[in-house]
Amino acid sequence: MNSNRTFTMLKPDSIEQGNMLPILNMIENAGFKIIALKYKKMSKDEAEKFYSIHSDKPFFNDLVSFMTRGPIIAAALEKENAVEEFRELIGSTDPQEAMDGTIRKKFAKSKGENAVHGSDSDENASIEIDFHFDSNEIFS
Ligand code: RTP
Ligand code: MG
Repeated sequence: MNSNRTFTMLKPDSIEQGNMLPILNMIENAGFKIIALKYKKMSKDEAEKFYSIHSDKPFFNDLVSFMTRGPIIAAALEKENAVEEFRELIGSTDPQEAMDGTIRKKFAKSKGENAVHGSDSDENASIEIDFHFDSNEIFS
């Protein structure tokens, strides 16, 4: 486990709305180094597994169909205190509650379709990076 790494996805709404590069720019400008990057469409199985912690939530089916309706950008990021700092950069889950200057405030339209994912702990960052990347796809 590496406490200076986190994992993000630019969700399908970001790609559909042409916000891929502006969001990657904000991430780099905030001092995160992109150490792995992939443009892909998740299968239903992958999305269900990735968000399995939410499988008993009322929004689970909507979340899985949203996350599989188009491609995403998956990325591993490196910065000191990466998990916490990245959660600050993306802002609250609901963009109406997100602070000015955050990615979700700027690009997210709703609590469900909220532009980006960010790992919530070092342990999950490590699991999520391994979920999407082989070790030879990471350039640290
Ligand atoms: P994420 O895991 O994607 O970074 O988001 P988060 O930690 O801020 O929020 P979390 O509670 O983990 O929820 C995961 C994703 O599920 C969708 N969601 N929809 N309609 C709703 O009430 C609702 N609540 C959550 C969002 O896409 C959220 O990011
Ligand atoms: Mg979460």
